[in-house]
Amino acid sequence: MKIGCVKEIKKLESRLGLTPSSVKEYVNHGHELFIEKGAGVNSGFSDADYEEAGAKILKTAKEVWDHVDMIVKVKEPLESEYQYFRPGLIIYTYLHLAADEKLTEAMLDSKVLGVAYETIVTEDGTLPCLKPMSEVAGRLSVIEGAKHLEKPFGGSGVLISGVTGVERANVTIVGAGVVGENALKMAIGLGANVTILDIDMKKLTYIDDLYGNRVTTLYSNNHNIQEACERADLVISGVLLPGAKAPKLIKRAFYENMREGSVIVDVAIDQGGSTEVSKATYHDEPTFDVDGIVHYCVANMPGAVPRTSTIALNNSTLKYGMMIANYGLEEAIKISEPLRHGVNTYHGYCTCPGVAEAFDIECKTL
Ligand SMILES: NC(=O)c1ccc[n+]([C@@H]2O[C@H](COP(=O)([O-])OP(=O)(O)OC[C@H]3O[C@@H](n4cnc5c(N)ncnc54)[C@H](O)[C@@H]3O)[C@@H](O)[C@H]2O)c1
Repeated sequence: MKIGCVKEIKKLESRLGLTPSSVKEYVNHGHELFIEKGAGVNSGFSDADYEEAGAKILKTAKEVWDHVDMIVKVKEPLESEYQYFRPGLIIYTYLHLAADEKLTEAMLDSKVLGVAYETIVTEDGTLPCLKPMSEVAGRLSVIEGAKHLEKPFGGSGVLISGVTGVERANVTIVGAGVVGENALKMAIGLGANVTILDIDMKKLTYIDDLYGNRVTTLYSNNHNIQEACERADLVISGVLLPGAKAPKLIKRAFYENMREGSVIVDVAIDQGGSTEVSKATYHDEPTFDVDGIVHYCVANMPGAVPRTSTIALNNSTLKYGMMIANYGLEEAIKISEPLRHGVNTYHGYCTCPGVAEAFDIECKTL
């Protein structure tokens, strides 16, 4: 199969779909690889790295799109990329179609085969191609939170670890999923006092078993969230209700009793956010202030660390991409149930129930 990768054109997005080591794997399996010139530079991969791995460098994105059977990306195609769609072209990337009617229409009209990372789901219900980005965002949330507690960044001036004779910062984490657990690891590593809340008692029990008295676990209800937020220097939200908007669990009324300059990192912002005032921000201006509380609401946090994120993403996406390349999409989805769930558009039909429901269109399950 001819497989291509282009530079991402979304604002401040520096990740890309293929690493040189993934390219090498595809090439070793007999596939031809094409990379847009300079596509990997922001992730620390040069054109020479890709050539050494066996890819051919093409000068423009158009040449890559036109030349290949499958495009491997990170972000959903933007409007200026719709011109490259054609029947039978496989687009393997994050698509988030339920939130983008225009893109859904363009993909259906042009009869491209859209395989979405975020809807690949394994038998035990995990989302293998979303997990690595949640790990990155969870770990980064503590680093960003600690930085924005610093006075020059608008914070209260608290050092997350404290020092000898001075209290450690209180960190409250709402949601003990992948984001929450990774935030917990980092916050404990930095020496903070951590409280973590969830409605899933199994997850809280697991954390209690693992960390013992180094962490406080609390059942998540309004009373406990309010108390934990009011004593927190840093609040991190990694709440998710699958297929729904994030619940607004962190109320503006709580801010009155929080220390001025405390920070909320709302990782769940990509699902609408967990505070009543959250709005998406970008890396170039990541925070805003409401009632003296610093809100960090970057919707693509992993984009800040593109090298780590690109490699982490490839660790999960290569397996399914390789199945598509080796067997062709039609055969690959017969072999792999998780991959079948990943197909969102197929020869002009919507094949993802969530997307069909979002736009009230027919769903043809594969
Ligand atoms: N901003 C970014 O760059 C970025 C990056 C990666 C992930 N995310 C987002 O972060 C969120 C979390 O992702 P994840 O992979 O950790 O999900 P996950 O499913 O692993 O974890 C979500 C957790 O929220 C818990 N939860 C649900 N309702 C709750 C409530 N009322 N109170 C407390 N906890 C509750 C669930 O029990 C679960 O443990 C998602 O919205 C995801 O899209 C954002």
